[in-house]
Amino acid sequence: MTAAQGLADSAFLKAARGEAVPHTPVWFMRQAGRSLPEYLKVREGVGMLESCLDADLTTEITLQPVRRYGVDAAIFFSDIVLPLKAVGVDLDIKPGVGPVVARPVRTLADVEAIPDLTPDAVPTITRAVRQLVAELAGINGGTPLIGFAGAPFTVASYLVEGGPSKEHALTKAMMFGAPDVWDALMRKIAGISAAFLEVQVAAGASAVQLFDSWAGALTPGDYATHVMPHSADVLARVGTLGVPRIHFGVGTTNLLTLMGEAGADVVGIDWRTPLADGIARVGGPEGHCVQGNLDPTLVFAPTEVMLARAGEIIEAGRSARGHIFNLGHGVIPSTDPDQLKRLTEFVQAYPV
Ligand code: CP3
Repeated sequence: MTAAQGLADSAFLKAARGEAVPHTPVWFMRQAGRSLPEYLKVREGVGMLESCLDADLTTEITLQPVRRYGVDAAIFFSDIVLPLKAVGVDLDIKPGVGPVVARPVRTLADVEAIPDLTPDAVPTITRAVRQLVAELAGINGGTPLIGFAGAPFTVASYLVEGGPSKEHALTKAMMFGAPDVWDALMRKIAGISAAFLEVQVAAGASAVQLFDSWAGALTPGDYATHVMPHSADVLARVGTLGVPRIHFGVGTTNLLTLMGEAGADVVGIDWRTPLADGIARVGGPEGHCVQGNLDPTLVFAPTEVMLARAGEIIEAGRSARGHIFNLGHGVIPSTDPDQLKRLTEFVQAYPV
Protein backbone atom coordinates (compact mmCIF):
# COMPACT_ATOMS: atom_id res chain seq x y z
CA MET A 1 0.00 0.00 0.00
CA THR A 2 1.34 3.44 -0.88
CA ALA A 3 1.51 6.20 1.70
CA ALA A 4 -1.19 8.12 -0.19
CA GLN A 5 -3.49 5.11 -0.04
CA GLY A 6 -2.78 4.63 3.68
CA LEU A 7 -3.83 8.21 4.30
CA ALA A 8 -6.98 7.97 2.20
CA ASP A 9 -7.93 4.82 4.10
CA SER A 10 -7.25 6.37 7.53
CA ALA A 11 -10.09 6.16 10.05
CA PHE A 12 -10.16 9.95 10.33
CA LEU A 13 -10.67 10.62 6.62
CA LYS A 14 -13.14 7.75 6.26
CA ALA A 15 -15.25 9.14 9.10
CA ALA A 16 -15.06 12.64 7.63
CA ARG A 17 -16.42 11.23 4.35
CA GLY A 18 -19.16 9.28 6.15
CA GLU A 19 -17.66 5.88 5.24
CA ALA A 20 -17.43 2.79 7.46
CA VAL A 21 -14.46 2.99 9.86
CA PRO A 22 -12.14 0.37 11.43
CA HIS A 23 -12.45 2.27 14.74
CA THR A 24 -13.85 5.63 15.85
CA PRO A 25 -11.09 8.12 15.04
CA VAL A 26 -9.97 10.48 17.81
CA TRP A 27 -7.91 13.66 18.11
CA PHE A 28 -8.09 16.59 20.51
CA MET A 29 -8.41 20.29 19.83
CA ARG A 30 -5.28 21.92 21.37
CA GLN A 31 -3.66 18.50 21.65
CA ALA A 32 -0.29 20.20 21.19
CA GLY A 33 0.41 22.73 23.87
CA ARG A 34 0.84 23.48 27.50
CA SER A 35 -0.47 20.18 28.87
CA LEU A 36 2.60 18.44 27.41
CA PRO A 37 5.95 18.64 29.27
CA GLU A 38 7.78 18.08 25.98
CA TYR A 39 5.99 21.18 24.59
CA LEU A 40 6.94 23.34 27.58
CA LYS A 41 10.53 22.19 27.14
CA VAL A 42 10.90 23.15 23.46
CA ARG A 43 9.00 26.43 24.00
CA GLU A 44 11.37 27.59 26.78
CA GLY A 45 12.41 31.15 25.91
CA VAL A 46 10.65 31.07 22.53
CA GLY A 47 7.60 33.30 21.95
CA MET A 48 4.36 31.84 20.61
CA LEU A 49 4.48 33.68 17.26
CA GLU A 50 8.19 32.95 16.93
CA SER A 51 7.50 29.23 17.34
CA CYS A 52 4.69 29.40 14.77
CA LEU A 53 7.13 30.93 12.26
CA ASP A 54 9.89 28.36 12.85
CA ALA A 55 9.15 25.43 10.53
CA ASP A 56 11.27 22.91 12.47
CA LEU A 57 9.77 23.85 15.83
CA THR A 58 6.23 23.81 14.37
CA THR A 59 6.91 20.36 12.97
CA GLU A 60 8.21 19.05 16.29
CA ILE A 61 5.33 20.50 18.33
CA THR A 62 2.69 19.20 15.90
CA LEU A 63 4.19 15.69 16.10
CA GLN A 64 4.45 15.57 19.91
CA PRO A 65 0.83 14.53 20.64
CA VAL A 66 0.83 12.12 17.69
CA ARG A 67 3.84 10.32 19.16
CA ARG A 68 2.53 10.39 22.72
CA TYR A 69 -1.12 9.49 22.16
CA GLY A 70 -1.23 7.82 18.73
CA VAL A 71 -4.19 10.04 17.82
CA ASP A 72 -5.81 9.57 14.41
CA ALA A 73 -4.96 13.06 13.15
CA ALA A 74 -2.43 15.80 13.71
CA ILE A 75 -3.47 19.44 13.78
CA PHE A 76 -1.01 21.95 12.43
CA PHE A 77 0.56 23.96 15.25
CA SER A 78 -0.17 27.61 14.55
CA ASP A 79 -2.77 30.18 15.54
CA ILE A 80 -5.79 31.86 13.97
CA VAL A 81 -4.01 35.25 14.07
CA LEU A 82 -0.80 34.00 12.41
CA PRO A 83 -1.94 34.95 8.87
CA LEU A 84 -2.71 38.49 10.11
CA LYS A 85 0.80 38.72 11.51
CA ALA A 86 2.14 37.44 8.20
CA VAL A 87 0.45 40.25 6.24
CA GLY A 88 1.82 42.85 8.63
CA VAL A 89 -0.83 43.46 11.29
CA ASP A 90 0.96 44.56 14.47
CA LEU A 91 -0.06 41.92 17.01
CA ASP A 92 1.35 39.60 19.62
CA ILE A 93 0.16 36.46 21.40
CA LYS A 94 0.62 37.17 25.11
CA PRO A 95 1.14 34.19 27.45
CA GLY A 96 -2.02 33.42 29.41
CA VAL A 97 -3.93 36.17 27.58
CA GLY A 98 -4.08 35.38 23.87
CA PRO A 99 -3.85 37.57 20.77
CA VAL A 100 -3.44 41.32 21.37
CA VAL A 101 -3.67 43.76 18.43
CA ALA A 102 -1.70 47.03 18.75
CA ARG A 103 -4.07 49.22 16.71
CA PRO A 104 -7.62 47.82 16.69
CA VAL A 105 -9.63 48.02 13.45
CA ARG A 106 -12.50 50.52 13.64
CA THR A 107 -12.86 52.27 10.24
CA LEU A 108 -13.00 51.43 6.56
CA ALA A 109 -9.51 52.91 6.19
CA ASP A 110 -8.29 50.52 8.91
CA VAL A 111 -9.74 47.57 6.97
CA GLU A 112 -8.31 48.74 3.66
CA ALA A 113 -4.86 49.06 5.24
CA ILE A 114 -4.74 45.28 5.81
CA PRO A 115 -3.02 43.57 2.86
CA ASP A 116 -4.37 40.36 1.32
CA LEU A 117 -2.50 37.12 2.00
CA THR A 118 -0.43 35.54 -0.76
CA PRO A 119 1.52 32.28 -0.34
CA ASP A 120 4.85 34.13 -0.49
CA ALA A 121 3.97 35.80 2.85
CA VAL A 122 4.00 32.43 4.64
CA PRO A 123 6.96 30.41 3.27
CA THR A 124 7.66 28.79 6.65
CA ILE A 125 4.08 27.51 6.79
CA THR A 126 4.50 25.80 3.44
CA ARG A 127 7.82 24.31 4.54
CA ALA A 128 6.45 23.11 7.89
CA VAL A 129 3.37 21.49 6.33
CA ARG A 130 5.47 19.71 3.68
CA GLN A 131 7.86 18.41 6.33
CA LEU A 132 5.00 17.27 8.52
CA VAL A 133 3.14 15.50 5.76
CA ALA A 134 6.30 13.58 4.88
CA GLU A 135 6.83 12.53 8.53
CA LEU A 136 3.19 11.72 9.20
CA ALA A 137 3.01 9.41 6.17
CA GLY A 138 5.19 6.98 8.14
CA ILE A 139 3.26 7.13 11.42
CA ASN A 140 0.58 4.49 12.14
CA GLY A 141 0.16 3.65 8.46
CA GLY A 142 -0.38 7.28 7.51
CA THR A 143 -1.67 10.00 9.85
CA PRO A 144 -3.60 12.87 8.26
CA LEU A 145 -2.71 16.50 8.95
CA ILE A 146 -5.54 18.96 9.63
CA GLY A 147 -4.87 22.51 8.48
CA PHE A 148 -6.90 25.29 10.04
CA ALA A 149 -7.89 28.93 10.01
CA GLY A 150 -10.08 31.26 12.01
CA ALA A 151 -13.50 32.11 10.62
CA PRO A 152 -14.22 35.76 9.80
CA PHE A 153 -16.33 36.54 12.91
CA THR A 154 -13.86 35.09 15.42
CA VAL A 155 -10.84 36.75 13.79
CA ALA A 156 -12.78 40.03 13.51
CA SER A 157 -13.40 39.93 17.23
CA TYR A 158 -9.65 40.04 17.96
CA LEU A 159 -9.07 42.77 15.35
CA VAL A 160 -11.91 45.01 16.50
CA GLU A 161 -11.69 44.49 20.28
CA GLY A 162 -7.90 44.56 20.20
CA GLY A 163 -7.71 41.42 22.35
CA PRO A 164 -9.79 38.68 23.95
CA SER A 165 -13.35 39.63 24.82
CA LYS A 166 -16.32 38.04 26.57
CA GLU A 167 -19.12 40.16 25.14
CA HIS A 168 -17.65 41.01 21.71
CA ALA A 169 -19.50 44.32 22.20
CA LEU A 170 -17.38 46.53 19.90
CA THR A 171 -17.40 43.84 17.23
CA LYS A 172 -21.17 43.50 17.32
CA ALA A 173 -21.58 47.28 17.48
CA MET A 174 -19.72 47.47 14.14
CA MET A 175 -21.85 44.63 12.77
CA PHE A 176 -25.09 46.39 13.74
CA GLY A 177 -24.09 50.00 13.24
CA ALA A 178 -21.55 50.17 10.40
CA PRO A 179 -22.59 47.54 7.87
CA ASP A 180 -20.23 48.81 5.15
CA VAL A 181 -17.17 48.60 7.41
CA TRP A 182 -18.34 45.23 8.69
CA ASP A 183 -18.85 43.84 5.21
CA ALA A 184 -15.42 45.04 4.09
CA LEU A 185 -13.78 43.55 7.20
CA MET A 186 -15.52 40.20 6.80
CA ARG A 187 -14.52 40.04 3.11
CA LYS A 188 -10.94 40.92 3.97
CA ILE A 189 -10.66 38.21 6.64
CA ALA A 190 -12.50 35.64 4.53
CA GLY A 191 -9.92 36.17 1.77
CA ILE A 192 -7.02 35.85 4.22
CA SER A 193 -8.41 32.74 5.93
CA ALA A 194 -9.22 31.04 2.63
CA ALA A 195 -5.72 31.79 1.32
CA PHE A 196 -4.17 30.44 4.55
CA LEU A 197 -6.14 27.20 4.18
CA GLU A 198 -5.20 26.94 0.49
CA VAL A 199 -1.51 27.22 1.39
CA GLN A 200 -1.83 24.37 3.90
CA VAL A 201 -3.77 22.11 1.51
CA ALA A 202 -1.39 22.88 -1.37
CA ALA A 203 1.47 21.76 0.88
CA GLY A 204 -0.31 18.49 1.70
CA ALA A 205 -2.83 18.94 4.53
CA SER A 206 -5.55 16.26 4.25
CA ALA A 207 -8.43 18.18 5.86
CA VAL A 208 -9.17 21.63 7.21
CA GLN A 209 -10.95 23.01 10.24
CA LEU A 210 -12.51 26.47 10.23
CA PHE A 211 -12.69 27.71 13.83
CA ASP A 212 -15.55 30.11 14.55
CA SER A 213 -14.95 29.81 18.26
CA TRP A 214 -16.92 32.90 19.31
CA ALA A 215 -19.88 32.60 16.91
CA GLY A 216 -21.97 31.43 19.88
CA ALA A 217 -22.22 35.12 20.82
CA LEU A 218 -24.69 35.60 17.92
CA THR A 219 -28.39 34.93 17.47
CA PRO A 220 -29.21 32.63 14.55
CA GLY A 221 -30.70 35.58 12.66
CA ASP A 222 -27.62 37.76 13.04
CA TYR A 223 -25.34 34.84 12.26
CA ALA A 224 -27.30 34.06 9.08
CA THR A 225 -27.32 37.67 7.89
CA HIS A 226 -23.94 39.07 8.91
CA VAL A 227 -21.55 36.15 9.33
CA MET A 228 -22.59 32.94 7.61
CA PRO A 229 -22.20 34.24 4.01
CA HIS A 230 -18.56 35.04 4.71
CA SER A 231 -17.78 31.71 6.38
CA ALA A 232 -19.57 30.09 3.43
CA ASP A 233 -17.21 31.92 1.05
CA VAL A 234 -14.19 30.49 2.87
CA LEU A 235 -15.62 26.96 2.89
CA ALA A 236 -16.63 27.20 -0.79
CA ARG A 237 -13.10 28.22 -1.82
CA VAL A 238 -11.62 25.30 0.07
CA GLY A 239 -14.37 23.02 -1.23
CA THR A 240 -12.81 23.12 -4.66
CA LEU A 241 -9.66 21.46 -3.25
CA GLY A 242 -11.38 18.17 -2.40
CA VAL A 243 -10.45 17.87 1.29
CA PRO A 244 -13.01 17.47 4.11
CA ARG A 245 -13.98 20.70 5.83
CA ILE A 246 -14.71 20.76 9.58
CA HIS A 247 -16.55 23.78 11.00
CA PHE A 248 -16.52 24.38 14.77
CA GLY A 249 -17.65 26.96 17.30
CA VAL A 250 -18.34 27.16 21.03
CA GLY A 251 -21.83 27.58 22.51
CA THR A 252 -23.31 27.12 19.05
CA THR A 253 -26.26 24.78 19.79
CA ASN A 254 -28.63 27.20 18.04
CA LEU A 255 -26.30 27.69 15.09
CA LEU A 256 -25.37 24.10 14.25
CA THR A 257 -27.85 23.73 11.39
CA LEU A 258 -26.60 26.95 9.81
CA MET A 259 -22.94 26.07 10.38
CA GLY A 260 -23.51 22.84 8.48
CA GLU A 261 -25.34 24.69 5.69
CA ALA A 262 -22.42 27.13 5.44
CA GLY A 263 -20.58 24.37 3.59
CA ALA A 264 -19.10 21.99 6.17
CA ASP A 265 -18.61 18.28 5.64
CA VAL A 266 -18.15 17.79 9.40
CA VAL A 267 -19.71 19.99 12.08
CA GLY A 268 -17.87 20.26 15.40
CA ILE A 269 -20.24 20.02 18.37
CA ASP A 270 -19.22 21.86 21.54
CA TRP A 271 -19.55 20.10 24.88
CA ARG A 272 -22.70 21.91 26.04
CA THR A 273 -24.79 20.31 23.30
CA PRO A 274 -25.85 16.69 23.85
CA LEU A 275 -24.28 14.89 20.87
CA ALA A 276 -27.57 13.26 19.79
CA ASP A 277 -29.17 16.72 19.74
CA GLY A 278 -26.27 18.10 17.70
CA ILE A 279 -26.54 15.22 15.24
CA ALA A 280 -30.27 15.87 14.77
CA ARG A 281 -29.55 19.55 14.14
CA VAL A 282 -27.10 18.77 11.34
CA GLY A 283 -29.49 16.43 9.55
CA GLY A 284 -29.13 13.03 11.26
CA PRO A 285 -27.73 10.00 9.42
CA GLU A 286 -28.21 11.64 6.00
CA GLY A 287 -26.83 15.00 7.10
CA HIS A 288 -23.36 16.23 7.97
CA CYS A 289 -20.77 14.19 9.85
CA VAL A 290 -20.01 15.36 13.39
CA GLN A 291 -16.97 15.83 15.61
CA GLY A 292 -16.93 15.93 19.39
CA ASN A 293 -17.79 16.35 22.15
CA LEU A 294 -16.54 15.25 25.59
CA ASP A 295 -16.57 18.03 28.19
CA PRO A 296 -12.83 18.89 28.49
CA THR A 297 -13.11 18.95 32.30
CA LEU A 298 -13.99 15.24 32.38
CA VAL A 299 -10.26 14.46 32.21
CA PHE A 300 -10.15 15.69 35.83
CA ALA A 301 -12.75 13.07 36.88
CA PRO A 302 -11.75 9.52 37.87
CA THR A 303 -10.68 7.60 34.75
CA GLU A 304 -13.70 5.29 34.84
CA VAL A 305 -16.09 8.26 34.97
CA MET A 306 -14.32 9.90 32.00
CA LEU A 307 -14.35 6.67 30.00
CA ALA A 308 -18.02 5.96 30.77
CA ARG A 309 -18.92 9.38 29.36
CA ALA A 310 -16.71 8.77 26.34
CA GLY A 311 -18.55 5.49 25.73
CA GLU A 312 -21.90 7.32 25.81
CA ILE A 313 -20.60 9.77 23.22
CA ILE A 314 -19.40 6.99 20.91
CA GLU A 315 -22.81 5.30 21.23
CA ALA A 316 -24.60 8.58 20.44
CA GLY A 317 -22.28 9.05 17.47
CA ARG A 318 -23.68 5.93 15.81
CA SER A 319 -26.72 7.93 14.64
CA ALA A 320 -24.52 10.36 12.70
CA ARG A 321 -23.42 10.01 9.09
CA GLY A 322 -19.89 9.85 10.47
CA HIS A 323 -18.36 10.58 13.88
CA ILE A 324 -14.90 11.83 14.81
CA PHE A 325 -14.31 11.74 18.57
CA ASN A 326 -12.90 14.89 20.15
CA LEU A 327 -13.31 17.05 23.19
CA GLY A 328 -16.08 19.64 23.02
CA HIS A 329 -13.43 22.41 23.11
CA GLY A 330 -9.67 22.59 23.57
CA VAL A 331 -7.51 20.62 26.00
CA ILE A 332 -7.25 22.56 29.27
CA PRO A 333 -3.55 23.30 30.02
CA SER A 334 -3.60 21.53 33.44
CA THR A 335 -4.83 18.28 31.82
CA ASP A 336 -2.88 15.14 32.77
CA PRO A 337 -1.53 13.72 29.48
CA ASP A 338 -1.92 10.18 30.87
CA GLN A 339 -5.69 10.71 30.96
CA LEU A 340 -5.70 11.70 27.28
CA LYS A 341 -3.60 8.62 26.50
CA ARG A 342 -6.16 6.39 28.26
CA LEU A 343 -8.98 8.19 26.49
CA THR A 344 -7.35 7.72 23.08
CA GLU A 345 -6.80 3.99 23.68
CA PHE A 346 -10.36 3.58 24.94
CA VAL A 347 -11.92 5.26 21.89
CA GLN A 348 -9.74 3.38 19.41
CA ALA A 349 -10.50 0.01 21.08
CA TYR A 350 -14.26 0.62 21.39
CA PRO A 351 -16.22 -1.74 19.08
CA VAL A 352 -17.59 0.03 16.01
O1 CP3 B 1 -3.14 21.68 19.00
C1 CP3 B 1 -3.85 22.51 18.36
O2 CP3 B 1 -5.09 22.50 18.46
C2 CP3 B 1 -3.20 23.45 17.38
C3 CP3 B 1 -2.85 24.71 17.89
C4 CP3 B 1 -3.80 25.89 17.99
C5 CP3 B 1 -3.42 27.03 18.72
N1 CP3 B 1 -4.37 27.99 18.53
C6 CP3 B 1 -2.16 27.17 19.47
C7 CP3 B 1 -2.12 28.10 20.61
C8 CP3 B 1 -5.05 26.14 17.42
C9 CP3 B 1 -5.92 25.25 16.58
C10 CP3 B 1 -5.39 27.49 17.77
C11 CP3 B 1 -6.61 28.16 17.30
C12 CP3 B 1 -7.10 29.32 18.06
N2 CP3 B 1 -6.40 30.38 18.54
C13 CP3 B 1 -8.47 29.55 18.32
C14 CP3 B 1 -9.58 28.65 17.90
C15 CP3 B 1 -9.64 27.41 18.75
C16 CP3 B 1 -10.29 27.59 20.07
O3 CP3 B 1 -9.62 27.32 21.09
O4 CP3 B 1 -11.48 27.92 20.13
C17 CP3 B 1 -8.57 30.77 19.02
C18 CP3 B 1 -9.84 31.39 19.54
C19 CP3 B 1 -7.24 31.29 19.15
C20 CP3 B 1 -6.82 32.56 19.80
C21 CP3 B 1 -5.92 32.22 20.93
N3 CP3 B 1 -4.56 32.04 20.79
C22 CP3 B 1 -6.26 31.94 22.27
C23 CP3 B 1 -7.65 32.01 22.85
C24 CP3 B 1 -5.07 31.58 22.94
C25 CP3 B 1 -4.89 31.09 24.35
C26 CP3 B 1 -4.61 32.13 25.34
C27 CP3 B 1 -4.00 31.47 26.60
O5 CP3 B 1 -2.78 31.55 26.75
O6 CP3 B 1 -4.76 30.83 27.34
C28 CP3 B 1 -4.03 31.68 22.00
C29 CP3 B 1 -2.62 31.33 22.23
C30 CP3 B 1 -2.28 29.94 21.86
N4 CP3 B 1 -2.57 29.38 20.63
C31 CP3 B 1 -1.61 28.98 22.64
C32 CP3 B 1 -1.49 27.83 21.86
C33 CP3 B 1 -0.79 26.56 22.21
C34 CP3 B 1 -1.07 29.21 24.04
C35 CP3 B 1 0.19 30.00 23.94
C36 CP3 B 1 1.39 29.36 24.58
O7 CP3 B 1 1.54 28.12 24.65
O8 CP3 B 1 2.28 30.15 24.98
